[in-house]
Amino acid sequence: MHASENAPLAPDWLELPSDTAALDEGVWPVTARRNGSGELELGGVAASELLAAHGSPLYVIDEQDARGRATETLAAFTDAFGAIGAEVELHYASKALVTIDIARWMAESGIGLDVASGGELEVALAAGIDPAKIGMHGNNKSRAELERAVSAGVGCIIIDSLGEIELLADVAASLGRVQRVMVRINVGIHASTHDYLATSHEDQKFGLTREAALDAVASIRASASLELLGLHSHIGSSIYESEGFGAAAARLMMLRAQLLADGPVPEVNLGGGFGINYLPSDQAPDIRELARGIAAEVQRVCEETASSVPRFVFEPGRSIVGPAGVTLYTVGSTKTVTVPGESGGERDYIAVDGGMSDNIRPALYGADYCVRLANRVSDAAPRLVRVVGKHCESGDIVVNHDYLPGDVTVGDLLAVPATGAYGWSMASNYNYLERPAIAAVRDGVARVLVRRVTIEDLLAYDAAWNGKASS
Ligand SMILES: Cc1ncc(COP(=O)(O)O)c(C=O)c1O
Repeated sequence: MHASENAPLAPDWLELPSDTAALDEGVWPVTARRNGSGELELGGVAASELLAAHGSPLYVIDEQDARGRATETLAAFTDAFGAIGAEVELHYASKALVTIDIARWMAESGIGLDVASGGELEVALAAGIDPAKIGMHGNNKSRAELERAVSAGVGCIIIDSLGEIELLADVAASLGRVQRVMVRINVGIHASTHDYLATSHEDQKFGLTREAALDAVASIRASASLELLGLHSHIGSSIYESEGFGAAAARLMMLRAQLLADGPVPEVNLGGGFGINYLPSDQAPDIRELARGIAAEVQRVCEETASSVPRFVFEPGRSIVGPAGVTLYTVGSTKTVTVPGESGGERDYIAVDGGMSDNIRPALYGADYCVRLANRVSDAAPRLVRVVGKHCESGDIVVNHDYLPGDVTVGDLLAVPATGAYGWSMASNYNYLERPAIAAVRDGVARVLVRRVTIEDLLAYDAAWNGKASS
């Protein structure tokens, strides 16, 4: 049955679930299951056990799932590009979620790292990642960040503006190094995603136009302390239609063909941005099909322009860790709201102990998630719910629209899947809420990757804090 026939406030896309306990494949991590008593288990560890040990809310990462996606993605691109005679390297986009352990999981899967700040670079170096397999991004890198990257031996720095060329050339020269660089090109693809996630339309801050790129490449080629490695494009994030990636590849390859007249362009980096299933109704692109589609476009342009096939780099973040993550919350209050009028109806507001501080994406992008009761199953009739947090904002929404069993009550545990990417990494301490820990689960064992940031930690930043609570 369509949801709106049952609950007038439900959006058209929301299906009334036949089973409110179902853990839909492709939305939940591979090890998610209900145990004998109906409780959600992740990596063989029960939700209640995880929260009892590590506090609520909690970010849980299914290690098997994240490692498996890293390996599958590398194989998909290696096979598709191998078939057209191209080598491929993957750089996991650490902005999605990075800790020292996660960086090591990627390295163990044969994947390098894309970092977008000096801080992310420090995590990568602390993890012992081979600097040659690190790509450094940023539209406003400081001299200090560039000095650190060059002296650490970062394999490639992706230039984002004409001014950066001079700065980086000077940094590299003063360190006595020749730094390999790419130029980020704004290929002018209008990716179908939220405006704030699209990074290749004309009116935004990233990259250089194809015209400006010609000047950039000429300056790099003229510099004794820089070496042109290639061209970069990232059209945006959370993209579900594969055509945009193929079109971006074709435009970049055309530009490369033009630049080959004056020297080598050995590498092309096509970024990340592959969409994932947040909802059972989402249709994430199949990574193998996607890789084959992009490779076909590359081959077509190489043939048309009689160019050599370059080496390729891709930078997926969300599609590797997003589906591996689940956030667990505890219900603290519930209320039923009746909206008057013709288009009105009822919905239950279920408030949990986190909110926009642990997942800003619903407030920032209008992102939709789904939710399941985690500590038990229930045969109570489904009710339309909005899961909200505990912040002082009406936009503090965790799950905008879903159904939960009608008997959900204070003390129940809720699980929101597909929160592995851009949850913890974009978290804040708004309202002085503690930042939840991240626990990795695998084979029945939970291990803390990053501990909870406590109120005491936050007070410790306050210069007037004297280490004691006043009585
Ligand atoms: C340059 C670049 N590469 C890769 C990514 C990763 O995107 P995603 O996590 O959607 O795969 C981003 C995300 O913003 C990016 O800006």
